[in-house]
Formats: sequence, structure tokens, C-alpha cells
Amino acid sequence: MGSKWQMERKKDPYYKRAKAEDYRSRASYKLKQLDKKYKIIKQSNTVVDLGAAPGGWSQVALEKVGEEGIVVGVDLNHIRTLPEENYFRIKGDFTTQEVQGKIMRVIGGKAKVVMSDASPELCGIKNLDQLRSIDLTNAVIGIADNILEQKGNLVMKVFQGPEYKKMLDGLKKKFRQVKTTKPPSSRKKSSEMYVVGLGYKHRIKNK
Ligand SMILES: C[S@@+](CC[C@H](N)C(=O)[O-])C[C@H]1O[C@@H](n2cnc3c(N)ncnc32)[C@H](O)[C@@H]1O
Repeated sequence: MGSKWQMERKKDPYYKRAKAEDYRSRASYKLKQLDKKYKIIKQSNTVVDLGAAPGGWSQVALEKVGEEGIVVGVDLNHIRTLPEENYFRIKGDFTTQEVQGKIMRVIGGKAKVVMSDASPELCGIKNLDQLRSIDLTNAVIGIADNILEQKGNLVMKVFQGPEYKKMLDGLKKKFRQVKTTKPPSSRKKSSEMYVVGLGYKHRIKNK
């Protein structure tokens, strides 16, 4: 007998599908569903995947961009290599200047898509967890501001908290369209939401 979590996982249709279809994580279906709805990633795009381990979103992005595109996966944890030659991995904390510098060197210009499925390590103290989540979200938006090309797209996981509305209002000034959504494969009991920003306009300082 496994734990309750293991039992639930075995029954989860997305977990089973991910195993059968060779995706590294059930999260792959979240990106597939988001992309089907909002057309975030296109062929030949340069995509930066923040919080990429074990690599499920990167696999989906690689399928979308094809051989002409580039996908860069960044994570605190080791990401096992993928067979595609246009996949690059960076191990480290993307909130740091050092890792952001590495991302820029790897892409060698601008990116068409910034995506983040990163979750902060939660400690169970509500205020602290909310602050960590806000820090992570702000770091993702900061990176998008630095590397997204005009008309580029952003997709990121967020947890609703005190700064949520302010963050959305800020994004609405930077993107032509901003949508918040919860894909069907995101567990109902999880408070995660996804924000999609389509058509990056320009950087607005101090917003
Ligand atoms: C839910 S997992 C991502 C799953 C991934 N999208 C997939 O499909 O396989 C979240 C990841 O975010 C990473 N993460 C959280 N904070 C990070 C940070 N500051 N820098 C880099 N990675 C981070 C964690 O290490 C974790 O691997």
C-alpha cells in the first residue's frame, strides 16, 4: 500500500497519460491546454522556461518550436537532458542576476515566449509563503521585461494573494491582452492560477 498521495496520483488520468505519452510531468498537459486556447508558442520561437524541472513544459515547447527554435530550461534542480540539440539547460536560481545573465547569453538576443511554472518552496506560514510567491512572480515579470521581444508572450503560474490585483494591473499596461485561467488539468484543490500575457508592448519602468 502506498501513501494517500501516491494512490491519488496513480488514479490521476493526466499522470497516466504523461507516463504513456512519455512526458516527464503531468504539468505538460497544463501547457498544452493553455497553448491550445491562447496560441502562446509558435514554430521557430525562442522560449525561456523558468522553473522547468523535470522538463514537461520544455518537452511541449520543443514540439511547438521545432528544429528552428530554441528552448532554454532553468531550474534550481537538475533537469535531465532531452534529446533535442536546441534544448539548453541552466541550473540555478532565476531570481539572481547571475542566472539572468546566463539566460541572456544563451538566447543571445530576445525571446518570443517567457513561461514559468515555478512554485516557491512553501513553509506553511501564510504571510511568508505569500511573500515568496510575490518575489517569484516579480522576478518572472522582470525577466520578461528584459528579454521579451515586441509582441512576445508570457505565461506564468501565480497564487492569489495580496498583490495579485496590482500585478495584473501592471501586466495589462505591458501586454495587448492579459487573461487569467485555470486549465482543466490543474487540480481543483490547488490554488494555482495561470496568467497569460499576449503581445508584449514595451517596458514600463517602475510599474
Ligand atoms: C511545478 S515544478 C515545474 C514543473 C515543470 N513545468 C514541468 O512541466 O516539468 C516547479 C519548479 O520550479 C522550480 N523553482 C522554484 N523557484 C525557482 C527559482 N527561484 N529558480 C529556479 N527554479 C525555481 C522548482 O525547483 C521546481 O522544479
